[in-house]
Amino acid sequence: MKGTFPVNKFRELETPFYYYDVNVLRETLSCINKEAGKYNNFCVHYAVKANANHKILTIIRENGLGADCVSGGEIRAAVKAGFPTNKIVYAGVGKTDWEINLGLDYDIFCFNVESVPELEIINELAAAKGKVARVAFRINPNVGAHTHANITTGLAENKFGISMEDMDRVIDMAETLPNVKFVGLHFHIGSQIVDMGDFVALCNRVNELQEKLYARQIIVEHINVGGGLGIDYSHPNRQPIPNFAEYFSTYHKHLKLRPQQTLHFELGRAVVGQCGSLISKVIYVKQGTNKQFAILDAGMTDLIRPALYQAYHKIENITSDEAIETYDVVGPICESSDVFGKAIDLNKVHRGDLFALRSAGAYGEIMASAYNCRTLPQAYTSEELV
Ligand code: LLP
Repeated sequence: MKGTFPVNKFRELETPFYYYDVNVLRETLSCINKEAGKYNNFCVHYAVKANANHKILTIIRENGLGADCVSGGEIRAAVKAGFPTNKIVYAGVGKTDWEINLGLDYDIFCFNVESVPELEIINELAAAKGKVARVAFRINPNVGAHTHANITTGLAENKFGISMEDMDRVIDMAETLPNVKFVGLHFHIGSQIVDMGDFVALCNRVNELQEKLYARQIIVEHINVGGGLGIDYSHPNRQPIPNFAEYFSTYHKHLKLRPQQTLHFELGRAVVGQCGSLISKVIYVKQGTNKQFAILDAGMTDLIRPALYQAYHKIENITSDEAIETYDVVGPICESSDVFGKAIDLNKVHRGDLFALRSAGAYGEIMASAYNCRTLPQAYTSEELV
């Protein structure tokens, strides 16, 4: 056992694989429940897109969170893990008919609608089933978030949501459609946000919109502010649990809710990010012209975030205590972007050593691909490896 890892167990397993420390996950969830629970109208959903592993979903459901889904597949995964269907929200710009029908059959809590044509189709499909679908409108608040360009979503140029200018028109339209019921507003400005000022900017925008609606005597049942709370990827020691106290209190302080309204959150990364690591074996240590490479059996197919977003994941050699040397850590895929880190200081590396790529619980396993005809990575929880 080095650090928190059961290294001897790891040696018996085929690499690469994801390892989830369920103690970290449970600690994170109890912190969320404690901090959100301070405000009686806060309701937290988990964004299934971050990690749909069945065991992870089951633990999250046991802790009482709802599920935010973006596809029929995610709705099925949430139902299989036991999430009550009245705690499932379905969002996404391109919902197909079968996916809408699935949501209708399950009587889910709400569809987050992103366009007029989508609203019309939901109305039509609900009518065919003799149902009334609960809908929230995803409003594009035109608020920039200080994060990577690929994961900001709240700007006018992004494909997401209905513009603030169109909101009145869409609400008028919903009033004419008998098989939809307008119940909420939905926002999401981006992901891996660590500056609370970005959330304050969103709150201010939501307050403005609420005033406009109030002038029309409309008070929606719920406001959904999306997810986006970031995690600390670069912490040198342990991977800290995000500051949920600060996050929820920011919303409590800045978002003006009417007494009967509830505030919904849909957090992904902040829930599962820190509990997961990708465990990989060193295949070769290769001497380059002026550097040395540690070549792993995991590649960008197993964890694409560094290649796609230049994301940093802390890398540790969990089987060596020898003096530190510097390495470029790379995978075996035939792409020059298949690099996990450059000039990384690691305990001296040998063929067969095991590496942990930390903070990989969110958007890791779920984004794995079979490019180069590779096998998808396995996943184990700490409970399974005792
Ligand atoms: N709600 C909506 C509408 C979203 O689009 C997202 C994430 C979330 C909630 C959850 O956001 P979170 O709390 O996890 O930040 N693959 C990228 C992240 C893409 C996020 C997409 N939307 C990454 O690996 O960084």
